[in-house]
Amino acid sequence: MGRAILIDTDPGIDDAVAIALALAVPDVEVIGITTVGGNSGLQYTTRNALRLLEFFGRTDVPVASGYDEPYARPKMETGYEPVHGHDGLAGVNLPEPTTKVVSTDAPAFLAEKIRISPDPVTLVAIGPLTNIAHLVDQHPDVIPMIDRFVIMGGAARTGNVTPVAEFNIWHDPEAAKRVFASGLKPVMVGLDVTHSVKTYENLWEWLSGAGRFGEVFGHILGSYTDFYSSFYGERMTHQHDALAMAEAIWPGIMTLEDAFIDVECQGELTLGMTVTDTRLRQGVVNGQVAWTIDGDVFHERLMSALSNLAATIN
Ligand code: BDR
Ligand code: CA
Repeated sequence: MGRAILIDTDPGIDDAVAIALALAVPDVEVIGITTVGGNSGLQYTTRNALRLLEFFGRTDVPVASGYDEPYARPKMETGYEPVHGHDGLAGVNLPEPTTKVVSTDAPAFLAEKIRISPDPVTLVAIGPLTNIAHLVDQHPDVIPMIDRFVIMGGAARTGNVTPVAEFNIWHDPEAAKRVFASGLKPVMVGLDVTHSVKTYENLWEWLSGAGRFGEVFGHILGSYTDFYSSFYGERMTHQHDALAMAEAIWPGIMTLEDAFIDVECQGELTLGMTVTDTRLRQGVVNGQVAWTIDGDVFHERLMSALSNLAATIN
């Protein structure tokens, strides 16, 4: 029995790496991708999902678009355009997609894929949780059918957008709160683990000999590294989304701890904080928090998977 993967995403440079990783690994099958507004507007994140799949020669993977506006509040000005560029992929030279979305109702698409999958489904959300909040509202019957739910989002300790909030949660805090209360039991791959892994620029040197894949990923990762370098003063990036994908495709690659996690939706200073209680005094567990990963193992597996994928692209 294989493992079926559904990806909810806002590509996004590190999302592109995560999607490539999922497509590159044997034993898992990506059965669909849904798009959400986040790193860029929905029109761009959807365009990027379609053109990336076309670039990878994987137009067999269906894409459905979802929500641009957050679950319960107007879109906030993020000011985060420098991270991924206005189009979400740093202006990369990739042709317009020739394919189209199969649906503009991401929650209905996800629900149907979950219902009909013969294999256990892992849902991986690597953008804001807007589509997933609507999924649990509109199709609650699928909640117990999801074998595993892994998110990139949150931070038990230190945030990135603010001292305590991580971008995906901060972008749509009410959606995240709804999802943590839904019974889906997210594995929260947050900044506690993603900030512990630094992907130094030299790890990407192989891209210069990797043909067209190398050109495209060299461009987007170069731009991402420039941003990180201006922010943190080091030529490295944090591969947030590929790390969440790693826990989805290789369960157990991280250490996890049971927790009760809730999201602050009002705090003047703490909006979007994932308040993570591992003391479990009330005995209620609604998810797990990821704490550690062996960065060398992650890099070895990531680079080997991506170079295999690169070899399939002209
Ligand atoms: C998360 O925010 C986005 O910018 C990245 O794609 C990742 O999903 C990291 O905070
Ligand atoms: Ca993302």
